[in-house]
Amino acid sequence: METKPRGKFASKLGIILASAGSAVGLGNIWRFPTETGENGGAAFLLIYICCILLLGLPVMLSEFMIGRHAHANAATAFEKLAPGKKQWHWIGRLGVVTGTMILSFYNVVAGWTANYSVCALGNGFNRMSESGDPKVFTDYFNSFVTGTYEPVAYLIGFMLLTHIIVVLGVEKGIERFSKLMMPLLFILLLVLAGCALTMEGAAEGLRFLFQPDFSKIDPGVVLSAMGQAFFSLSLGIGCLCTYASYFKEDVNLGKTAFSVAGIDTMVAVIAGIIIFPAVFSVPGMEPTEGPKLVFVALPHIFKDVFGGLPLLSYLVPFLFYFLLVLASLTSTISMHEVITAYISEVHHLSRKAAATLVTTICIVLSTLCSLSLGAGSEWTIGGMMLFDFFDYATAKWMLPVGGFFIAIFAGWFLNRQILWDELTNKGSIRFYGFKAFLFLLRFVAPLGILLIFLNELGWLAF
Ligand code: PHE
Repeated sequence: METKPRGKFASKLGIILASAGSAVGLGNIWRFPTETGENGGAAFLLIYICCILLLGLPVMLSEFMIGRHAHANAATAFEKLAPGKKQWHWIGRLGVVTGTMILSFYNVVAGWTANYSVCALGNGFNRMSESGDPKVFTDYFNSFVTGTYEPVAYLIGFMLLTHIIVVLGVEKGIERFSKLMMPLLFILLLVLAGCALTMEGAAEGLRFLFQPDFSKIDPGVVLSAMGQAFFSLSLGIGCLCTYASYFKEDVNLGKTAFSVAGIDTMVAVIAGIIIFPAVFSVPGMEPTEGPKLVFVALPHIFKDVFGGLPLLSYLVPFLFYFLLVLASLTSTISMHEVITAYISEVHHLSRKAAATLVTTICIVLSTLCSLSLGAGSEWTIGGMMLFDFFDYATAKWMLPVGGFFIAIFAGWFLNRQILWDELTNKGSIRFYGFKAFLFLLRFVAPLGILLIFLNELGWLAF
């Protein structure tokens, strides 16, 4: 099936950082606060963490085991591990469709971050705050995202950047990049969290994020938390499967999964600690404001905390949005990689040709998603704008469906010996709690996902 030798990640740290680079992105810094704000705060966070532990980790480990064992992209991996069993091959194909849809709306938001970093570079936020109008940041956001040419130009630029890095190949492109940028982003987030805590709404923001109000929980909240867990960990489309196919034999899969899930969750919670204190400090701003939260709340932090400091008030916004661009880029690369690897290996196209095809399709879909926020707002599916529909359908349904089948495949179909060999590197390292892990994988994760779906559809009386 394979036509050329596959690349390998050179170092273990590189592996963790590249996988975490895929996981950490707009999902943590933009989507997590949006979902937390819309779904009642701390109660959502609690369910989210349960979903990470009980559903996300088993599925992540499954993707790692499948990818490394098969040494192939997601679609080919199922063909290799289940030869002649055509039904499993659909998991890989579903992943490719889901990945294309996610990349298409994700790329729109990534374009916004690029615009914000350019705006910060031109000292735009400081100039805006001089007007003294408290709504200036909201107005800027609304007018930019509903525009026609500008957001489209940014999303095309972003997609092309992703394209170039994917064409450069595994080691050169992804690893070098992630190693450098992830730690920097983490440090800046910690600094910003410290700053947000000095704002007047800090106590209220923290209460919103950490003091659960259980009356807020309903089936929709649980579905959102599960969707966010899959989205944030990059699960369900075989993305980590593809990454794991580049892992060396001595990588400890269990440890890597814990590190990636841990880093990812930490970044999301820190993003919450930055955003909600700011939201409660700005008069008139509500946590339920959705996608604009990050793009409006952060400029307020920059203005309030760094306003009087000429150098910092210029540098911090730029650095933040620039790093957000990079964090988004490591995620768009990973999605692009899944689709490109599939097309080039299954349809025997060169990497470059496959990548060009993916880039072209995604630019068209992204443009439609972006326009649906303004000029094309009447293009709705099920009452949702195209952009919202892509987000809803993929995160809340398609990723968990993919995760469900991946867990079933690894738990019920794959030979136990393969699982054991992958988790212990053929007995050379320890893996504690193999039985408990099997139980999670075979029963808890698939049944959990199923029950959450049925509950949302109103077929259960919880
Ligand atoms: N996990 C990424 C983020 O949080 C998004 C993503 C989803 C990437 C699915 C790959 C696959 O930004």
